[in-house]
Amino acid sequence: MFCVVCYMFMDKQQAKKRIEKLREEINHHRYLYHVLDKQEISDGALDSLKNELFKLEQAYPNLITLDSPTQRVAGKPLDKFKKVRHSVPMMSLFDAFNSEDMRDWEKRLYSLISREFRLDYYCELKLDGLAASLRYKKGVFAQGATRGDGVIGEDITQNLRTIEAIPLVLRRPKKGQLTKIGLAKDAIINIQTALEKGTIEVRGEVIMAKTVFGKLNKKYKKQGRALLANPRNAAAGSIRQLDAKLAAERQLDYYVYDLILPLSPRLAMASAKRATPSMVLSSPRLRSGQARERGDLLQKQEQKIELAKLLGFKVLKYNKYCKNIEKVFKFHDHWEKNRDKLDFQCDGVAVKVNKLALWPRLGAVGKGPRYMMAYKFAAEQATTKVKDVVWQVGRTGALTPIAILNPVRVGGVTISHATLHNMDEIQRLSLKIGDTVIIERAGDVIPKVIKALPKLRDGDERDIRLPAECPVCGGKIDKAPGEVAYRCANKNCYAVNLRKLIHWASKGALDIEGLGPKIIEQLVKEGIVGDLSDFYTLKKGDLKPLERFAEKSAENLVKAIQDRKRVKLERFIYGLGIRHVGEETALLLAKNFSVYNITYPKSKISDLIFYFKGIKPESLEAMEDVGPIVAKSISDWFYNQHNLELLEKLEKKGVGFIEDYREYIKKSPKFQNKKFVLTGTLNSLTRYEAKRKIRELGGNISSAVSKNTNFVVAGIDPGIKYDKAKKLGVNIIDEKEFLEIIK
Ligand code: IVH
Repeated sequence: MFCVVCYMFMDKQQAKKRIEKLREEINHHRYLYHVLDKQEISDGALDSLKNELFKLEQAYPNLITLDSPTQRVAGKPLDKFKKVRHSVPMMSLFDAFNSEDMRDWEKRLYSLISREFRLDYYCELKLDGLAASLRYKKGVFAQGATRGDGVIGEDITQNLRTIEAIPLVLRRPKKGQLTKIGLAKDAIINIQTALEKGTIEVRGEVIMAKTVFGKLNKKYKKQGRALLANPRNAAAGSIRQLDAKLAAERQLDYYVYDLILPLSPRLAMASAKRATPSMVLSSPRLRSGQARERGDLLQKQEQKIELAKLLGFKVLKYNKYCKNIEKVFKFHDHWEKNRDKLDFQCDGVAVKVNKLALWPRLGAVGKGPRYMMAYKFAAEQATTKVKDVVWQVGRTGALTPIAILNPVRVGGVTISHATLHNMDEIQRLSLKIGDTVIIERAGDVIPKVIKALPKLRDGDERDIRLPAECPVCGGKIDKAPGEVAYRCANKNCYAVNLRKLIHWASKGALDIEGLGPKIIEQLVKEGIVGDLSDFYTLKKGDLKPLERFAEKSAENLVKAIQDRKRVKLERFIYGLGIRHVGEETALLLAKNFSVYNITYPKSKISDLIFYFKGIKPESLEAMEDVGPIVAKSISDWFYNQHNLELLEKLEKKGVGFIEDYREYIKKSPKFQNKKFVLTGTLNSLTRYEAKRKIRELGGNISSAVSKNTNFVVAGIDPGIKYDKAKKLGVNIIDEKEFLEIIK
């Protein structure tokens, strides 16, 4: 989606230039996509460019030319295959992007039909593959074609024959089966006659399952062959292979979404004698096709799908009858959230007016029929412009470039920032300030810039430069050999320090109630807190003059800090913010310290210093999950004078740790060193509580499933970790079983 406000500020000359560039870019990608089956940018990103062009053309209508991509319906067919004229044109669906678009659509439909009809719908997941039309003569597969330009397609019969999901001979459903799906006598006779001596056509989508795509790419990688770009491309590319053997290797799939039966003899006669006014549709191209829909054959879209199944075709089991538009929304929203769980790419829901009798009344306009709508899922990619790049200083002093974007909707939310990670990434993207970029936001992942579109540059772009000094404290910037990140070398850097303080008080570390980032920032700004140890000398009076503090809240915060003076060792270690030491590594270090340190559990911070100063990086590396980088980082931290001074100050102020891991080991041997992975939502406890429980019992938590995982705890709506666990045969337990074992 394109930033709405930007084009308003362009003058006509600027708009003309931008329009020309957008057209060139879109045409290039359309050619790759439709003619060569190649794809350099995603559909979402291309839609976003088209949308920008459309809006600009709307703002300057006299800049619209006939050759603009916005004026075109489909690509031209390839020359390689024999051309096939479709018996009924293969049209496209109109797109709706939100529930408002859908309600408007329904309103338009009601304005075209009498109110006595209640609209109900049939919802099908919209597969993202390649449309193919199959013709069966006397029940035998005779010819298959691609959509081409909608009127003429390419003959791909040989390749389609290799797809197991496509029956070479149609099944002959029994009368009882046809009656069961609600077909009348006339319809049954007509179908039986068509199977015996007539023509039946089906339309559907050729796809490659995601798992097949994964398997093939794994194999190709091993063989050193070129990898397939994505399942859609792979399906389209395979079906257009001139060598059917290659197509067969690709294990394609085919799902039917439409069925074209011959007119019943009664109707055929009637239509030959006179064309009734109700048969005259808005688009002359459609007339022949639409006559079939007003027949006395099938009454509902739902029946078409059921009949296709009876004839031996694969149809999606997820398709659903929806009594009203609200139910359609529910279906759409469910699959938008859960599309990752499907084994095929799916970009929305094809919503169809279920009563076929209404189709000819509703007719078609332009590229598609009015009685269907593609209710798209939020695109995971979109284009926008990079307004600026700012540098953020992290807890470890690392400078991270952040792209400031023209606000853009992607994956269902508006975003205005995206991380660029580091200078190497900027170079990889060849990015400049002012560039149009493709942004991706898939699932709950942080949005990222995945590609710059340099051809859209207008000459005003600027290079992105590393700041000469720390943007926060003005300190020197360093880069360690072999590292990608640049860091602020000033140990007292405001931002570095602030982040350290915030981290110390955060949930996974000391978990000090009421000591959130805003308050810490105030304390630092006012000079009340300089380092971690200063928290422990805070007095009510220090806090009261500050914003947000009254007598009681100040008292509460001082108490909360004092209450958390002694915490579990792993929290203490994690709170120190040592680079590469997350919660899991902190726990591992804590366990090792507690097992090998004889003074534990009475040990003090000075024992901790003694232990870590005495342990060589090689010994740290001997611990499971500690690699050389982590080991060096820990060792460096404990040899840094500044850090040692801080630890001493903390000890002087009475900060320390509690608990003995040897107790846990005694308590719950079955959890010792067992690896847990959590996925989905648990009902009775938060993710955080579940993690703590597992750790307390001596287990470890990993973020990814591997064959070494002992348990996957699956809550509601589990993610891909669940599928992976299933695949690897890892033990999956539900919430009930989990609660049982931690009892
Ligand atoms: S109905 C009038 N139903 O989406 C067009 N299309 O732009 C009739 N598609 O070319 C198509 N799943 O390749 C329909 N359940 C579905 C579909 C579906 C995927 C594709 C089809 C078509 C495009 C529509």
